[in-house]
Order: sequence, then structure tokens, then C-alpha cells
Amino acid sequence: MTNTVPSNADAHPAPGAGDFAARASAVAKVYGRGDAQVVALDGVTVGIPRGRFTAIMGPSGSGKSTLMHCMAGLDSVDSGQVFIGDTELTRLKDKQLTRLRRDKIGFVFQAFNLVPTLTALENITLPMDIAGRKHDKEWLDTVVDTVGLRSRLKHRPTELSGGQQQRVACARALASRPEIIFADEPTGNLDSRSGAEVLGFLRDSVRGMGQTIVMVTHDPSAAAYADQVLFLTDGQIVDTMQGPTAERVLERMKGFDRPAADTARTAAGGGSTSGAAAR
Ligand SMILES: Nc1ncnc2c1ncn2[C@@H]1O[C@H](COP(=O)(O)OP(=O)(O)OP(=O)(O)O)[C@@H](O)[C@H]1O
Ligand SMILES: [Mg+2]
Repeated sequence: MTNTVPSNADAHPAPGAGDFAARASAVAKVYGRGDAQVVALDGVTVGIPRGRFTAIMGPSGSGKSTLMHCMAGLDSVDSGQVFIGDTELTRLKDKQLTRLRRDKIGFVFQAFNLVPTLTALENITLPMDIAGRKHDKEWLDTVVDTVGLRSRLKHRPTELSGGQQQRVACARALASRPEIIFADEPTGNLDSRSGAEVLGFLRDSVRGMGQTIVMVTHDPSAAAYADQVLFLTDGQIVDTMQGPTAERVLERMKGFDRPAADTARTAAGGGSTSGAAAR
């Protein structure tokens, strides 16, 4: 409806460093050597604002998962720094890194990664149990109700639908109140209705509980649940968008090279024949 596309190219989130749950500074990551060398991240500087829902979009191979893995301490960087809160993750020794990941970071992946022999509730509390941490019963109740799993807590993963399994994975990430949750295509394996449910309560956990979430997605309508979108191309952040709508995200994706445009078209599920040339 609005044809004025705000130029957000320079609008990196402006709050002070303390307002970022995670930060990357000039992060570079190269895979392989010689002819097989791939520059996955080419000097990424970005802050993830606390208490907000951030989506990361970009063509396949643009470095989205790599950025997420480097920021979450699941992969090492070749140069640059990563901070979770005030802690520089890139300086930590293995043991400290493991502890930081366990205490401060939640993960949700495309594959739900649940333990098949455990019930839904046992899966949700597993990280806390491994850490020998007491359950905050009240908080656990809030999380279970937020993801709508109250009646499924005794079920094992095989007795749950895909959407329910992903809700368990999200509850597991939320249960320990991490500083930040990283989600890599959390709705990639879900039908659109289950996907919308998962996205709905991810957004609710940001709005209602102040959780910080970063989510990689290919789907403009999934990105529209977020407060802001970061666009990644060839290992670099090339744009940001505040208050995204599916239409604006789709329009922005068309500006990228072929794979992005293909992805965007597929995700939109319908040809846009009119009003495509907004600028
Ligand atoms: N372990 C690895 N070894 C070698 N190259 C890798 C490795 N992981 C990623 N890459 C390469 O780094 C680049 C970025 O990969 P990455 O997985 O971050 O992309 P992506 O944006 O998440 O893509 P997709 O949307 O397909 O998931 C790609 O060219 C990929 O082939
Ligand atoms: Mg990926």
C-alpha cells in the first residue's frame, strides 16, 4: 500500500552496545583452501538488539547459517570478534565456550533434534538437567502454555506432529531463559499452519517475555513476523529493514541475484503481475 520504501541501508540499529544481546565485529570466515576456498563471511559487523525478533534473509549460500553458527559459538571465526552480551565469545577457551553456550544461548534447528526416548517434558528440561540446574516451575509453566503443549507433555517425539515437535524444541530453548535464541529455518520442515503457530509464539515470547530471537528464513511471510530483517549477500550484510511486511521483503529480495529472486518467487507462491515496479 505504501509505495515509499524507506531507505534503511544505513539504518543499523542505533542503540548503545549494552542494548545488543549479541554483536559481530568484522567477522570473516573462510572454508577450504586454494581452489576450493569459499569466503562464507566477508567482514560482517552487526548488532542483534536485545528483546527484539530479528530475521536473517539472503540467497542460498550467502552465509546465513555460518553467521548464526559463528555468533552462537558453534563454529570458529577466522578473524573479527563475536560478543554475547558483554562477553567476547571469540576469546573463550573451549570449556568456557561450552558453559556460555549452555547458560546463555538457546538453539532451534530445522531438524527438531529431540531425544526419541524422552517425553516432551523431559526433552524440554534436558539442558537444565544436564547442567544440574533447578527448574523454575513457574517459568516452565509459562513456556509450556505459550507453546500450547500442556496436554502433550507425556508424549514421546514419535507421538507428536512435526509442528508439536518443533514447539517442544522451542520450549526447550526458551526454558532456560537464554540471553539469545538462534533459530535456523525453524519452520523449514513444517506445513504453513504449523509454521505460523511456531512463528506466532516465537514473536509472542519476544513481545511478552522480552526474549531475544534471531531467525534465519527463506520465507518472506515468516520474516514478516520479525521486528527487523537483515539481508545477507555473498557473506556481507547489504541491507536492513525495520517493521517488515511480506510484500516489502519480497520486493527487496527481487533486488538480489537470481537464486534470491527464485527463492522469493517460490516462497510467495503466486506471481505478482501488477505493482511490481515500485521504484
Ligand atoms: N563446512 C563447510 N565446508 C566448506 N564450505 C562450507 C561449509 N559450510 C558452509 N560452506 C560454504 O559457505 C557458504 C555459506 O554457507 P551457509 O551454509 O552459511 O549458507 P546459507 O546462507 O545458510 O545457505 P542456505 O540458505 O542454503 O542454508 C556456502 O558457499 C557453503 O557452500
Ligand atoms: Mg543455511
